[in-house]
Amino acid sequence: MDNFKVELDSDGILVCAFDTVGKTMNTFTKAALDDLMAIAERAKTDAAVKGVVITSAKSNGFCAGADLEEMLGGAWESGTLDKTDPEAELKGAFAAAFEMNRVYRALETCGKPVAAAINGLALGGGTELVLACHYRVLSDGPKVQMGLPEVKIGLFPGGGGSQRLPRLIGAQAALMAMSDGKSFKPKEALAAGIVHEVVADDQVVEAAKTWIKTKGDPVALWDKKEFKIPGGGPYHPAGAQVFMMGNALLRKQSFGNYPAVINLMHAVYEGLQLPIDSALKVETRYFAKTLMTPQAKAMIRTLFFSMQAVGKGSGRPSGVPKTEFTQVAVLGAGMMGAGIAYVTAMSGIKVVLIDRDQAAADKGKSHCEGLLKKAVSRGKMTEDKAKGVLDLITATPDYGLIKGSDLVVEAVFENTELKAGVTKLAEAELAPDAVFGSNTSTIPISLLAKASVRPENYIGIHFFSPVDKMMLVEIIMGEKTSDATLARAIDYVLKIKKTPIVVNDERFFFANRCFIPFTAEGLHMWAEGIAPTIIDNVGRATGMPRGPLEMMDDVALDLLVKITSETAKAEGANYIPIPGEGEVAKMVADGRLGRKNGKGFYDYPEAGGNKSLWSGTKDMFPVTMAEADPKQAEELKKRLLYIQAVTAARCFEEGVITDPREADVGSILGWGFAPWSGGIISLIDSIGVASFVAELDRMTGLYGDRFAPPQLLRDMAAKGETFYGRFGKADKKAA
Ligand code: NAI
Repeated sequence: MDNFKVELDSDGILVCAFDTVGKTMNTFTKAALDDLMAIAERAKTDAAVKGVVITSAKSNGFCAGADLEEMLGGAWESGTLDKTDPEAELKGAFAAAFEMNRVYRALETCGKPVAAAINGLALGGGTELVLACHYRVLSDGPKVQMGLPEVKIGLFPGGGGSQRLPRLIGAQAALMAMSDGKSFKPKEALAAGIVHEVVADDQVVEAAKTWIKTKGDPVALWDKKEFKIPGGGPYHPAGAQVFMMGNALLRKQSFGNYPAVINLMHAVYEGLQLPIDSALKVETRYFAKTLMTPQAKAMIRTLFFSMQAVGKGSGRPSGVPKTEFTQVAVLGAGMMGAGIAYVTAMSGIKVVLIDRDQAAADKGKSHCEGLLKKAVSRGKMTEDKAKGVLDLITATPDYGLIKGSDLVVEAVFENTELKAGVTKLAEAELAPDAVFGSNTSTIPISLLAKASVRPENYIGIHFFSPVDKMMLVEIIMGEKTSDATLARAIDYVLKIKKTPIVVNDERFFFANRCFIPFTAEGLHMWAEGIAPTIIDNVGRATGMPRGPLEMMDDVALDLLVKITSETAKAEGANYIPIPGEGEVAKMVADGRLGRKNGKGFYDYPEAGGNKSLWSGTKDMFPVTMAEADPKQAEELKKRLLYIQAVTAARCFEEGVITDPREADVGSILGWGFAPWSGGIISLIDSIGVASFVAELDRMTGLYGDRFAPPQLLRDMAAKGETFYGRFGKADKKAA
């Protein structure tokens, strides 16, 4: 047996330590499942075995779930979304998916008590394995967590989790945990009734053995005659309530965009009415059905495979040695600079945080201190660690302290001359191979690089706000930026545990270029007389985190007015004004700046609580559509999503972005683009380029040229291409 280290102790307890071959973390491969089946068989047939303990031989966790890469055979990665025979595919998926249920159930019914000694993280199939054990002891280690996060990649628990968890903790608690993919820390898992004991890490195996020796019961709760579902099953009045409320809640939260969540609900509702063996089959049937949906396929590809690849720096040129960073200088200690200093120090790098005077620099450092205090108060960090991080940051107005920095990140006001000035000051102190990165959000990198004596070392490193929370960083190549500089900028972004995408130097780069049209489309709708509440409700129903108008309030209306006027200036005669932009400028002139001062499209009560629509919106554009029927709502949703997607297609045509994986991952991490779609490019691929072009042509006729499909899309439609087919690459630079 290769994947479990098995030892029969003197009490007849078979201790099986999981150790997946060739993997740093335990995951269930086909071979590991076969080995587990052999353990179940041995427990069943070998009289010397009195009980079984399942634990992990790896120091970094118990089990992270199924090995998706092996199970899905790379099909999602390569972009072959369309299979020729869906019927056969569904049957194959059922057979493959049922394997985990068959093996776990064999262990559960082996006739000997089975205890799980969970000595580390157990997620997905790992948590499902321990739910199939009769007893669960969990380590109290700081990094330990359990949970069923499958919905986050468009699936739901398909290894018995959707059936065993509700039988263990009740349908309501189980549905809530599974539909958000919630994870439980040891104390929470104990309080929720998911585990029986929480003990020190080195005691888990002993505690599991003790249970076997003293109480060992080989029959699962749900296999006992007297078993009742906690809180009642679907036919029980309280249980039925859970499903009625659950359905309503689900609709409210996910707008029916996620087939996984709908199928999870079906599986739980139907499964709870059946004995466990039939219930597991029901689960697998819905699981396989989910796996076949375009949403699950696209989500798995983007949120699992591509997220891993891009998160490891898929766009990094090879052949450049990895850079270690000992000191980074951050210019400008404002909102962005302070955030950048914080995330840099958090990864153990010394930071010189520079502003115009000591007070301004100190203000930036205090911001870091505030973030650290919050982390300590939430139990996420020890006081010592927080102090260590803060000590790494030196706040100063003295440019001389930049000396010795491997990298400078510039985040001063958005002003070309000012940025040129600080570039010169910083470069005077820098070693010739140090990298200079600008966090500009709108000024072309090639223009800023003109101020640099080493334009090949000059690059854009564009963070998103708030820096401590937002995972995406756009790396922008200027005309003269070298590959070595690109590699080093990516090394920095990976070091601070963020996800880099590589984009070329066009106005607004990639993320803002695609996102701004979403808000602009909201303004078009407002000016057409569509009620703001409809616009925002429909906006949220697309799967975007907020509707366009409330999103504008969050960004700040004055900033949007500034961006609009600068765009108009830059585009000159080519600028096409957006209906409603004058009205927003008027709102700003009247002191309505958005959420930050409590007044924008909405009024935000000072005491907190729900916002309400500002009554003045209807004086600016009288409402002509106060209600939208389903067909109208569908059309509005399409406008909000397609205007972003067509912009992304233009970015590919212009070479602003070149890797569909980066576009998809970037769209979800950068501006929360409808995750159910798998990202902005997967949306087009799953619609089909030809159908997308036909829709764009129709919408251009109705709403204007902003929807016009670029030539690239027409060419792709003519050839029957997909974005992943045409632009997909395993390794960007090697290709
Ligand atoms: P901010 O106004 O909060 O901070 C700018 C800081 O630069 C101020 O503390 C100011 O005192 C300092 N500064 C001005 N002249 C300086 C000099 N000569 N030497 C050193 N420091 C100087 O602005 P924010 O929002 O942090 O933006 C900074 C940059 O980041 C801008 O280029 C902006 O476009 C970009 N950006 C902003 C985002 C946002 O959401 N606010 C997002 C991404 C990029």
